[in-house]
Amino acid sequence: MLCERDRDATGSSAGGSADLVVISNRLPLRRGSGSGEAQWVGTTGGLVSALTPVLRGRSVVWVGWSGEVGDAELPDSYEGIALRGVPLSGEEYDDFYVGFANRTLWPLYHDGIRTPGFERSWWAAYVAVNRRYADAAAAAAGPGATVWVHDYHLQLVPMMLRALRPDVRIGFFLHIPFPPQELFVQLPWRREIIEGLLGADLIGFQVPGAVANFARLARRLTDATGADGVLRYEGREIRVGAFPISIDAADISARATSPAVVKRAHEIRRDLGDPDLVLLGVDRLDYTKGIEHRVRAMSELFAEGTLATPRHVMVQIAVPSREQDTHYRHERERLERLVGEVNGAYSQIGHTAIHYLHQSVPTDELIALYLAADVMLVTPLRDGMNLVAKEYVAARVDSTGSLVLSEFAGAARELRSAVLVNPHDLDGINDAIRMVIDLDPARARSRMRSLRRVVQRHDVYAWAREFLSALQRPAAVPCGPGAEVGRDAEDR
Ligand code: G6P
Repeated sequence: MLCERDRDATGSSAGGSADLVVISNRLPLRRGSGSGEAQWVGTTGGLVSALTPVLRGRSVVWVGWSGEVGDAELPDSYEGIALRGVPLSGEEYDDFYVGFANRTLWPLYHDGIRTPGFERSWWAAYVAVNRRYADAAAAAAGPGATVWVHDYHLQLVPMMLRALRPDVRIGFFLHIPFPPQELFVQLPWRREIIEGLLGADLIGFQVPGAVANFARLARRLTDATGADGVLRYEGREIRVGAFPISIDAADISARATSPAVVKRAHEIRRDLGDPDLVLLGVDRLDYTKGIEHRVRAMSELFAEGTLATPRHVMVQIAVPSREQDTHYRHERERLERLVGEVNGAYSQIGHTAIHYLHQSVPTDELIALYLAADVMLVTPLRDGMNLVAKEYVAARVDSTGSLVLSEFAGAARELRSAVLVNPHDLDGINDAIRMVIDLDPARARSRMRSLRRVVQRHDVYAWAREFLSALQRPAAVPCGPGAEVGRDAEDR
C-alpha cells in the first residue's frame, strides 16, 4: 500500500478530469411520472443541495444508479454536475440492492430489528457492483482528485478505488448507524467490509458512538492500530470522525414564510376540522421508523380519553419504500390494519382520528404540514440522523410547536431540547404526549427556540464544508512504523 507522500511521485493512469467525484447508490434524480415520456426530475433535499455551494467552480462528476433495472438513458448532467450512470441488471437489483444492501446490511446496522439474511450470492453481487462503482469513479477522477463515497451500499469502494487510483483523496460518509461489535461480528464478511472502508483517508459517521464502534472493530478484525479518531493501517493514516448531517435550514424557513405555504397550512387545519391539536408523523414506510409503536401509543391515548376526535387529530405520512422486500410489505399490512382498527374505534362521521397517507409528498406540502402540526412525533427505533426532525424545527419560524424525538435517532444528540423518548416504551411516549399537550406555551417556545438555534447554526452547508475540509487536511502523522496504540486482535 502506498504512503501518503509517495502519491504524487507514483502518480497513476488518471482516468478523467473531474476535481471532485461524488459516488452514491442513487443519482440525485429519478424518472418523473405523468407524461409517459422519459423525463428526469431532481430528488428533493439532501446531498445535492448540500453539495451545490461547495461544487461551484469545480468540475464535478456524480456516479450512481438511475433507480431502474438495465440501461437507463440519463441526461448528461444535472444542475451543472456531470452524471455517470452505473447500470444494475435484474439479478443485481435483487442480489445487490434488495439482497445485500437492504436485507443484510440495513437490518444489521439498525440494531437487528429484523433478522439479517447472509446469502453468499448477495455478497458476490455486492463485491461485483462495488467494483463497477470503483471503476467508474477511477475513470472519472482527474489527477489528485477528491472522491466522496456515500453510504452502506458502497463500503468496498474506498479500498477498490485506492488500488486503482492511489493518487486520489478518498472520503467515505455513512448515512445510517454503524452497529456495535456484538452485532457486526455476525456478518460473515465482516473483515472485508472493514478493510474496504479503511481504503478511505477520512471515514465519517453521524455520531461519535459509531466512530467508537468502527474503530474498535477495525482494531479487532484487521491490523489497524491507533486511537478512535486516527487509525493506522498498512502504513497510512485514516481519520475517523462524527459529522452529523443536516438540512438547508434557511431554505425551509424561507419556504415556511411564503404566503402560498402559510395559506396551505391553514387549509390543512381547516380540512382536518379545525382541531385544537394536530399531531404529525412523516416517515418512509420502514420497520426502523417505529410507526406502529407510535400508532399504538396514540390508540391508548384515544382509549383513555386524553385524545378525542374532533379536538385531536393525527396525520401520518408513510412514504412508500422498498416494496419488493417482504419485511416492508408486512410492515405496511400491519400498520394499515392497525390504523384501520384505531379509526374504526375512535373516529366519528366526518372526523377521522388518524389521517393516514401512503404516498410521497412534495416539499412545499410537507412544509405546510409541518406548519399545521402542533406536535411532531419522530420516534424511530434506530435512525442514523433523521432529517424530518430537523426540518420540522426549521419550519417552526414562530417558535411554536413541540418535537417528540426518539433517543435512538442520531438527531437526539443535537436536539437536546426536544422531548426525548424511548420509542419501545409506549408508556413513555404517552407521558411525552400528555406532557406536550399541557406544556406551558412560554416553556414550549423556549424549547423550540433552542432547537432552532441548533439547526440554524449547523446546516447542511456547514456539514459538507466540514467534511470536505477535513478530507483535504494533510496527514498529520508521517508514514512508516510509528507510535502504535493498542491493538485488539481477537476474532480475525
Ligand atoms: C436511507 C439511505 C439512503 C437511501 C434512502 C432511500 O436514507 O441512507 O442511502 O437512498 O434511505 O432508500 P432507497 O432504498 O429507496 O434508496
